[in-house]
Amino acid sequence: MSGAAMSFYENHVLPHMIDCACGSPLIMKERSRIVPRASGTVLEVGMGSGTNLQFYDGQRVDLVYGLEPSEGMRRKAAGNLARSCVPVEWLDLPGETIPLDENTVDTVLLTFTLCTIPDWRAALTEMRRVLRPNGTLLFCEHGRAPEPRVQRWQDRLTPAWKKIAGGCHLNRPIDELLTEGGFRITEMDTHFLDKTPKFVGYIYSGEAVPA
Ligand SMILES: C[S@@+](CC[C@H](N)C(=O)[O-])C[C@H]1O[C@@H](n2cnc3c(N)ncnc32)[C@H](O)[C@@H]1O
Repeated sequence: MSGAAMSFYENHVLPHMIDCACGSPLIMKERSRIVPRASGTVLEVGMGSGTNLQFYDGQRVDLVYGLEPSEGMRRKAAGNLARSCVPVEWLDLPGETIPLDENTVDTVLLTFTLCTIPDWRAALTEMRRVLRPNGTLLFCEHGRAPEPRVQRWQDRLTPAWKKIAGGCHLNRPIDELLTEGGFRITEMDTHFLDKTPKFVGYIYSGEAVPA
């Protein structure tokens, strides 16, 4: 694909695809279990089209910093932003360089984003830096499945998948990344999504604190 075609794909086609895929009823159910637990000042890393906004509890959340480097995704979020019951401030940068002071947020929210961030270790280090010592990282991600047969498919498919899915890796072991990135997991549920191909449907969801 030429540079112009790739840029058109990333800015105009991909945001619609991600919005549709990430807005499926099964995924929305996963979000509804984790997002309402956010409180105080929240940093949502890779906010995408703002699909989580409807699940925030307006009584518990003061402000959401929506960090999202893609202009196409920010544009796609306009409708969800207009309906949001919590104030949102965009941060137009990648997770590897979070433009906030240390110890400034109470909750970091990561949903279906750790699969995509190129330098996940730098991004998690940044999240840990800005999170208050008694703060919480809430996560709901897809990643490496426990079954070797599925893992082999995840490894085989990831190079091509990355190219069409905005850099998404199918095979990242989310729990290991969080631990290596400086967090201690305090609660985690893992399961396959119903009616979803196993290579893309293994969910890690829960809570972690600074280690
Ligand atoms: C699959 S989408 C998920 C969006 C949203 N979190 C959700 O749950 O619907 C992954 C998002 O990560 C964003 N992203 C890509 N690289 C990133 C980076 N380095 N730091 C932060 N976000 C990034 C993409 O632009 C995209 O919006």
